[in-house]
Amino acid sequence: STQKSPYEALGGEAVLSELVDTFYSYVAKHPDLAPLFPNDLTETARKQKQFLTQFLGGPTYYTEEHGHPMLRARHMPFTITNTQADAWLACMNQSMDDLEITGLIREYIMERLTMTAYHMVNQ
Ligand code: HEM
Repeated sequence: STQKSPYEALGGEAVLSELVDTFYSYVAKHPDLAPLFPNDLTETARKQKQFLTQFLGGPTYYTEEHGHPMLRARHMPFTITNTQADAWLACMNQSMDDLEITGLIREYIMERLTMTAYHMVNQ
């Protein structure tokens, strides 16, 4: 197909990478999220770049290295309530503001991330 993937519409690797780095800079400071994460978010961010790339129709880097995402199962070790899902999405919205990501691509990505975030709620 000649249609751009959402990954391409976002701006590809450069924009996605900056978005994820900005996102974890907020996660690291968020009182409802920071306690769940390791102090060094380098590896977390690397995996999230791989995941979001494939989630948005880009290359399947996450699955190539880690197998099936099974995201809900991978999040079961962590207590996630609506509070954490709201906080996760607030950090992502703030990051999109910072990068000036607007319009349909932002709406599309945020809609899918919202569904995924609430799907992770396990308490
Ligand atoms: C890993 C928390 C939502 C994708 C993790 C980790 C935590 C976490 C604590 C482990 C980090 C590490 O040890 O490096 C949360 C919380 C969420 C949430 C509190 C709130 C709802 C999401 C969403 C996505 C996502 C919406 C995808 C769009 C991932 C990925 C990993 C991960 C890909 C790496 C999994 C792996 O180890 O391979 N998350 N997460 N998370 N999260 Fe989330």
